[in-house]
Amino acid sequence: MKNLTYRQANLADLNWLAETEQRCFQQGEAFSRRTMQRMIGNIDNSVFFDILEVSRKSVGYALYLFRRKSTLLRLYSLCLLPAYQGQGLLKPYLRERMRGFAVNYKKIGLEVRVSNIRAQHLYRALGFTTEKILAHYYPDGEDGYRLIKVLAADPRF
Ligand SMILES: CC(C)(COP(=O)(O)OP(=O)(O)OC[C@H]1O[C@@H](n2cnc3c(N)ncnc32)[C@H](O)[C@@H]1OP(=O)(O)O)[C@@H](O)C(=O)NCCC(=O)NCCS
Repeated sequence: MKNLTYRQANLADLNWLAETEQRCFQQGEAFSRRTMQRMIGNIDNSVFFDILEVSRKSVGYALYLFRRKSTLLRLYSLCLLPAYQGQGLLKPYLRERMRGFAVNYKKIGLEVRVSNIRAQHLYRALGFTTEKILAHYYPDGEDGYRLIKVLAADPRF
């Protein structure tokens, strides 16, 4: 069985990230190379940027944002290359990450398109619940859900 590991993103990942972003997200929604670069530059300040790997090959990324003195962490973006999707690789990774985040953060939140059933399955299986429906949240007018999870020590995760 494949095992997903993670490491911190750095500028050498920029080309790969820009290309992967286009493969994971619709046009107009994908982050630009410049945005990715800015995010990498903010590591330790307001961003956790994980490159997800299988056998040392980059297969996806996860981006978390935080504010100083806030106990809410935001899962800002998550993507796995299509060839690695649908294999349950992300659940153990996210569980491990959230266990670690529980030390410094009380809650983790994210936004997801109402049509992105796959992502919703994943998040709900991890204990996220709907906090709010976000009407016309996306640039094309689609609604979103704000999902939230309390990061208290949870014996299941
Ligand atoms: C969303 C994404 C990160 C999920 O990763 P994944 O590897 O496909 O996730 P999993 O294999 O764990 O599948 C998640 C769940 O969705 C279910 N699922 C898979 N395909 C599905 C489909 N077409 N419809 C409904 N459910 C589906 C799986 O059965 C699984 O549920 P389960 O654990 O209850 O069985 C990945 O598909 C991706 O990168 N998508 C493109 C970018 C994106 O949408 N990111 C999220 C933005 S919020």
